[in-house]
Amino acid sequence: MTDEQEGSDAEDTAASGSAPVPPVAPRTQRPPSDRLSGNKTSVCSRSYFVVVMVFFHVYIINVIALLFYVHYSSGGQEDASQSRDAPGGQQQQRAETRRPPSKADFLRDVSLARIEGIRVGHVQSVSLAPGKVHDMRTLSLKPLLFEIPGFLSEDECRVVMQLAQLKGLMESQLMVQDGQEDLAKELNLSPEEIFNLLDINQDGQLQLHEILTHSRVRDGIWLTPENLREIYAGLKADKDGNGLLSLEEFRLLSSDAFQRFLLQRGVKRSQLVRNSRHTWLYQGKGAHRVLQDIKARVTRLTRLPSTLVDLSEPLQVVRYEEGGHYHAHHDSGPVYPETACTHTRLAANTSTPFETSCRYITVLFYLNSVEGGGETAFPVADNRTYDEVSLIQNDVDLLDTRRNCDKSNLRVKPTKGTAVLWYNYLSDGRGWVGEQDEYALHGGCVVTHGTKWVANKWINIDPDYQRQARYQQLVSRQPEEEDDEGWTPDPDLQHSNIHQDL
Ligand code: OGA
Ligand code: CA
Ligand code: FE2
Repeated sequence: MTDEQEGSDAEDTAASGSAPVPPVAPRTQRPPSDRLSGNKTSVCSRSYFVVVMVFFHVYIINVIALLFYVHYSSGGQEDASQSRDAPGGQQQQRAETRRPPSKADFLRDVSLARIEGIRVGHVQSVSLAPGKVHDMRTLSLKPLLFEIPGFLSEDECRVVMQLAQLKGLMESQLMVQDGQEDLAKELNLSPEEIFNLLDINQDGQLQLHEILTHSRVRDGIWLTPENLREIYAGLKADKDGNGLLSLEEFRLLSSDAFQRFLLQRGVKRSQLVRNSRHTWLYQGKGAHRVLQDIKARVTRLTRLPSTLVDLSEPLQVVRYEEGGHYHAHHDSGPVYPETACTHTRLAANTSTPFETSCRYITVLFYLNSVEGGGETAFPVADNRTYDEVSLIQNDVDLLDTRRNCDKSNLRVKPTKGTAVLWYNYLSDGRGWVGEQDEYALHGGCVVTHGTKWVANKWINIDPDYQRQARYQQLVSRQPEEEDDEGWTPDPDLQHSNIHQDL
């Protein structure tokens, strides 16, 4: 349907774009006698010629139209995902393939629907369950971000919080991070190598912002500019006291010294990247009805094939105590050709050095209304440009959600039952997952009063279509077990302090 509409749109544009047809007027101005004056055969042959030409053109246009039709209806649905599917449409159901895909099917027989933002403030109604309609408001276009008040009922919020409590929540980030230490030792970098890595502008000095950009999170500890100055001073690294570190000065600041200094001072929870507790709730067969219902409504909302949602991570329930926060981060990292996705890793037959969670969509639910603070901040939403370095300027670190939420471009107030949905990746323009959307940077502002409860539903899709297809084929081989039991939360990932990808 969409393809046909697109076809006619294209034709309309072409028609309106063409020049007006001039020859008609001069001809009618000729005296009638003049028009009839030619001999019969010449009139005949001219009209004959005109008729032939008209038929010829109509024939050619038909052939072209037919070729276009065949191309678009067989060769994948091209751009359908990026464009105009009004919410509530059913066409994506077509994309869902239940039969085991043959090798040829791996070449794009699925096109991912993408909700249209139209413009900031645009409200569209979505029907997610029989007899229930919600308003969905566009909050930003970069990232593509929506708010749906009342997505969850009061009862559903209560049940989810109770189930999470029953299961038990664990610290989202552990205080001691040993993995990184080992990694640093293994790489065995010299101070020169580290210095070069950090010296972005290669001027042979380490400016404060260079250190902050790259080691703001050091062993899971968030460093403010003051912390850093303190560290410089405490370590007596900045010998000339100019606020810059030369290579000589940097040598003195070996990571061991750094580490010892931090340990000495003692680390508080508030200094971590993330200060919250969380647990995972499975939503597959046999799960609590509320959890299954939520999953079904998320499927309708996103208009993605249900298999993709079923095979995604379970629901993550997060609780922040007063003083809790989550500094700005990406839910999923950039994807390079050599990057693997956590969820399809088992199906990939290669081992790769990079891995990310490939969370195409985040649906964040507010399970309670927070008394004070706790907004979700999007520091660079709808910014004209994205520039990592300018996130920290004049000692103001936009990623720091304990201090600088008020400077974020967008903040969403936590209201019980509201869902927020955004895309962490762009479209590739061919109906599949494209590049990471850097503008999707976000964090949880510090909770100033009360407790904050949220839940995350992530939809994992491998930007490598073949890998996703292979993975789906692999897990669908086990009959009856198609639900999200196929996914196991990675214990390393849960506790990792990889800032990009918690
Ligand atoms: C998250 C997250 C934001 C918030 O859990 O990944 O970004 O407002 N949460 O709690
Ligand atoms: Ca210096
Ligand atoms: Fe997040």
